[in-house]
Amino acid sequence: MSHILITYYSNSGNTEAMAGSIAEGAQSYSDMQVVTKNVKHISNSDLQNADAIIVGSPTYYGTMAAEVKTMFDNSIELHGALDGKIGAAFASSGGVGGGNETTVLDILKALLIHGMIIQGSPEGDHYGPVSIGKPDERVVQNCLQLGRRVTELVKKIKQSGMSA
Ligand SMILES: Cc1cc2nc3c(=O)[nH]c(=O)nc-3n(C[C@H](O)[C@H](O)[C@H](O)COP(=O)(O)O)c2cc1C
Repeated sequence: MSHILITYYSNSGNTEAMAGSIAEGAQSYSDMQVVTKNVKHISNSDLQNADAIIVGSPTYYGTMAAEVKTMFDNSIELHGALDGKIGAAFASSGGVGGGNETTVLDILKALLIHGMIIQGSPEGDHYGPVSIGKPDERVVQNCLQLGRRVTELVKKIKQSGMSA
C-alpha cells in the first residue's frame, strides 16, 4: 500500500476544494491510501510516512500562506528524511496575475530542498494546478489529472525499487 498525503491551507474554501479534486484523482487507484489534511493538523510523522506529498496554498502577497510556510519551517527536523519522495503543489489566488504560479513555485522550491522528485505537466497547468477563486471545470480537470499523475509516478518509482 502506498500513501499519498494532500495537505493544504484554506480560509474561504477554494484551495480546500482543489485538494478534494486532487484526492479524487488519486483515489482512482485501489492500492493507494489517500489522506487529505489541513496543514494546521500536519505532524512531521505524517510527512515522513507519505510516499508523495502534495501541498496547496492560497496566494498571500504572491507566495504561500504563513501556515504553509510554518509547516515547512517545522519540517527542518526531518531534513534529509524526505529525500526521494514525490512532491507536487497547487494554489489559488484572487485574480489573474495575482501570483498563483509564484506560489506553486515557492512550494516546489521547499520540496526540492527536501530532495523530493517533482514531475511537471506538458499539458494543462505546467507547474501544478492553479485556480482564480472558486475552482471551475478547467481547474477541476487539472486537479484530477495531478492526482492521477502523482499516483502513477508513485507506482512507477515503487516498482523500480528507488523510493525513499
Ligand atoms: C492576506 C491575503 C493576501 C492575499 N494576497 C493575494 C495576492 O497576492 N494575489 C492574489 O491574486 N490574491 C490574493 N489573495 C486572495 C486569495 O489568494 C484568494 O482569495 C484565494 O482563492 C483564497 O483561497 P482559500 O479560499 O483557499 O482561502 C489574498 C488574500 C488574503 C486574505
